[in-house]
Amino acid sequence: MNTNGNSADRIANATQQRFGERIEPEPDAVGLETIATMLEHSTFRQWDERPVDAGLLRLLYAAAFSSPSKGDMQQADIIQVVDPAIHESIADLIGGMDWIRKAPVLLIFCGNGRRMQRVAEWRGKSFENDRLDHFFNVTCDAALVLGRFLGAAEASGLGCCPVSAVRDKPDEISEILGLPDGVFPIAGLCAGYPSGAGRVTPRLPLDVTLHTDHYDETRLPQLIDTYDRRRHDLAPYNSQREVERFGWADSYRWRANAACLSGRTSAPSFARRASASIDIARPRERTDDSARSMPYWRLVGGSPQSNRDIRSSLRQRFPLISGRTAK
Ligand SMILES: Cc1cc2nc3c(=O)[nH]c(=O)nc-3n(C[C@H](O)[C@H](O)[C@H](O)COP(=O)(O)O)c2cc1C
Repeated sequence: MNTNGNSADRIANATQQRFGERIEPEPDAVGLETIATMLEHSTFRQWDERPVDAGLLRLLYAAAFSSPSKGDMQQADIIQVVDPAIHESIADLIGGMDWIRKAPVLLIFCGNGRRMQRVAEWRGKSFENDRLDHFFNVTCDAALVLGRFLGAAEASGLGCCPVSAVRDKPDEISEILGLPDGVFPIAGLCAGYPSGAGRVTPRLPLDVTLHTDHYDETRLPQLIDTYDRRRHDLAPYNSQREVERFGWADSYRWRANAACLSGRTSAPSFARRASASIDIARPRERTDDSARSMPYWRLVGGSPQSNRDIRSSLRQRFPLISGRTAK
């Protein structure tokens, strides 16, 4: 059966809704059904009673672990939570998100910076990649596996919600799941058959997030204003965050306060879990330029180099970096 006509319509509608830009694919292009499903992505937090077949889940794990992997090092793991008592303790620990308790499937996606170190030990080699780069590699692998799982799950009719809240209490989650040093949760994922329809939430227009040859934010204020209005009309936020600090906004703009929201402070503890010998300093006072540009992470040990030095050496090597945003 040729489903391209239908997929092309779905794509045109979803791109309009998502980005405010109707993208009409060539009707004979390949892969339209997959692309339509990606564009129609929606997060779900409510599911019906239907259990998710174990065979289907195994297939989805296989699809997820088929993701590309940095250096073919395969540094991601999934913990599937099947013991109701463990499911319950995780829901209790996170608190405030009761849908986690009711989710038919609960998974914890982990970065694994430990396996390669162990392999190196067993084979009598030194582990040379014990740097922040290792943390990035591991996190990218795990994020890809999460994303691909989500895509495969949605293609098979499941609805999912990732849960970064597992990072609020990395030590407790690690204890419950028996995660050793070097293995750290990047996000949970709840899944099941959705009990209602999803909705395509508007994203920033491609003119904000897609750049050609050079980074460009010249029109950012106008584009964000337009997005704010579109977002408010199509999918207004039903709650506002940190109202006690910032007050209630009649027209809540896209993460209007996002820049000021207090992020989670567990990040340094995570990075230590990623690799015992990477030492990440606490967030510094955000008073100077370098702290603003790189507020959370600062490598200590090795050869101490301030962020300002790093930026200035980057500018020497890649002159276009400086001032490009003023275009
Ligand atoms: C890594 C990651 C972590 C997330 N963590 C949470 C979470 O802890 N709680 C929650 O309700 N939604 C969570 N979400 C879902 C986002 O809130 C959701 O994707 C976003 O609001 C956009 O909505 P949409 O996915 O329906 O387009 C998370 C999404 C991602 C990608």
